[in-house]
Amino acid sequence: MTRLDWVSRAGGPVRGDIAVPGDKSVSHRALMFGAIAEGTTHIRGFLEGEDTRATAAILGKLGVRFDTPAPGERVVHGVGLHGLRGTTEPLDCGNAGTGMRLLAGLLAGQGFDATLVGDASLSGRPMRRVTDPLGQMGAQIDTHDGKPPLRIHGGRPLKGITYHSPVASAQIKSALLLAGLYAEGTTEVIEPHPTRDYTESMLKAFGWPIEYSPGKAKVQGGHALRAVDVDVPADFSSAAFFIVAACVVPGSALRLKGVGLNPRRTGLLAALELMGADIAVENERHSGGEAIADLVVRHRPLHGVALPLDIVPDMIDEFPALFVAAACAEGMTTIRGAAELRVKESDRIATMANGLKACGVMIDELPDGAMIRGGPIGGGSVDSHGDHRIAMSFAIAGLVATAPITIGDCANVATSFPGFVELANGVGFNLGPALPP
Ligand code: S3P
Repeated sequence: MTRLDWVSRAGGPVRGDIAVPGDKSVSHRALMFGAIAEGTTHIRGFLEGEDTRATAAILGKLGVRFDTPAPGERVVHGVGLHGLRGTTEPLDCGNAGTGMRLLAGLLAGQGFDATLVGDASLSGRPMRRVTDPLGQMGAQIDTHDGKPPLRIHGGRPLKGITYHSPVASAQIKSALLLAGLYAEGTTEVIEPHPTRDYTESMLKAFGWPIEYSPGKAKVQGGHALRAVDVDVPADFSSAAFFIVAACVVPGSALRLKGVGLNPRRTGLLAALELMGADIAVENERHSGGEAIADLVVRHRPLHGVALPLDIVPDMIDEFPALFVAAACAEGMTTIRGAAELRVKESDRIATMANGLKACGVMIDELPDGAMIRGGPIGGGSVDSHGDHRIAMSFAIAGLVATAPITIGDCANVATSFPGFVELANGVGFNLGPALPP
């Protein structure tokens, strides 16, 4: 991939009326369930990101046909639960942890072998969290010392298990539920803290019997999925960058339309409200079984907080943006209980701490979080380590910094948020490509 660096300069206020692209978690799942359903699934609001396109390309190699009537739409011609066919080609998940972990569960139950590979970042991420419990179900998956590539041996009969997951992870839960569709008996996942329930709600919408409540989900093998149309809400995690930007830039007033408000995703709203933010939730409604609403965010000075531990899992993807909000707040913000950040697309605690330090922010890294003292943000040069959410977070920092911030390695923003630069500049960001040295 060609290297792309950005410069983010002072700008704002952040004003306008925008919609961010479709939800990544829902888009991955709609492709997978549509693929193994009977009938034709029409997905609207599909995220045209590299992560979700990688999942579509893999399913295509496994024999699923897709039509693209318009950008942001996919028609999936389902092949039924047992209709996927094998390929000897490696299946490339790109940067996508969700793609790889969920597909590991889906492929564990097939009659053919498959190999899942990923880019340099994904190749360094832990996979035993899914391969161990899938192994308990009878799957055989070889890893490279617990990391990708995953070599999945087909034709292994799976048996349902009850799994008490040590980590609050929707990816682990979803991998096991997907394998559970192919298993004999009951597969139950119990989580230490409830996580996003899109897999459960989509299974239900596709007609598969499922029992679930926050933190628990149970399926039995031996049913069928019936195609159903899926409306994908705007991704809260993409909206998060604009929410924080409007909170911290004086004079801002921004409306974000139709944002998905799954309660296991919106911890950032609770955190920012504790910090004094002015965020109104308007026009609440439901779309495709999910709560959505318009968010109206106005600038108001923030103050530091000790973040309550129980909201950490509900904002796991929003920490890079919250680090920037904390750097702009008055006083100290303490984040604990967030060690999972170290195994995301980059080590997000270290990457954010190093970047903020390079811009003169006082931040102490902790094993499971950070202590961030708010104050002026200076200019500097930061490395996103190819992590989309880090790159977009430093774009916010540049808006309020006293000098330009150069952000290295930003091409992966296209994995989750194609069109970010144009949308951001349209509401007051001042973001452009860095000139080669
Ligand atoms: C996701 C679950 C979360 C999240 C990721 C998407 C999903 O990961 O960070 O961006 O779609 O299930 P974990 O399951 O590792 O917490």
